[in-house]
Amino acid sequence: MTGLDRITFRPMGYPDLDRVMEIEKQIYEFPWSRGNFGDSIGSGYHCNVMERGGFLAGYGVMMEVVDEAHLLNLSVGKNWQGMGMGRMLLRTFMEMARARSLRHFQLEVRVSNKVALSLYRSEGFSDIAVRPGYYPAAWGREDALIMGASL
Ligand SMILES: CC(C)(COP(=O)(O)OP(=O)(O)OC[C@H]1O[C@@H](n2cnc3c(N)ncnc32)[C@H](O)[C@@H]1OP(=O)(O)O)[C@@H](O)C(=O)NCCC(=O)NCCS
Repeated sequence: MTGLDRITFRPMGYPDLDRVMEIEKQIYEFPWSRGNFGDSIGSGYHCNVMERGGFLAGYGVMMEVVDEAHLLNLSVGKNWQGMGMGRMLLRTFMEMARARSLRHFQLEVRVSNKVALSLYRSEGFSDIAVRPGYYPAAWGREDALIMGASL
């Protein structure tokens, strides 16, 4: 792997938020706000970024609830999608949760998000429940699928 391909994972800081927001607006129809990320950092959630060749290519936010990890955001910039970064990011968060002795890993995903569903299923996540109308959508509301995996 050359220096250009080197992948690193580190905590997200406030100075990262310009780049994070750039990606967020690029890849989501209903992006998180800068305030959502700022609050997550301020609340002590696990907010991390993944850099590839020195460029911030992806990030995620994970919250701890008793012995569970809740993944609130998992994102890879458009130019880096489909190259294994999302899987790597997800595995890194799961590893972090395991290292903190958490027992269960949970997340929510739009029922229409085929790429994310395929990633989570292939990492052993199973369906827990459907939250009807959880997400805003261009046509009204969209259901969320709650998925989970044991750690
Ligand atoms: C979902 C997301 C995090 C996945 O990250 P990624 O880096 O693009 O995905 P990876 O390259 O790691 O691929 C992981 C798996 O996703 C699926 N996948 C990736 N690209 C796909 C595509 N174009 N079509 C269908 N499935 C795809 C495959 O199952 C793939 O596994 P494989 O390579 O073994 O076939 C990323 O695409 C993203 O940020 N999307 C927009 C935001 C989003 O939807 N976040 C998740 C919210 S719950």
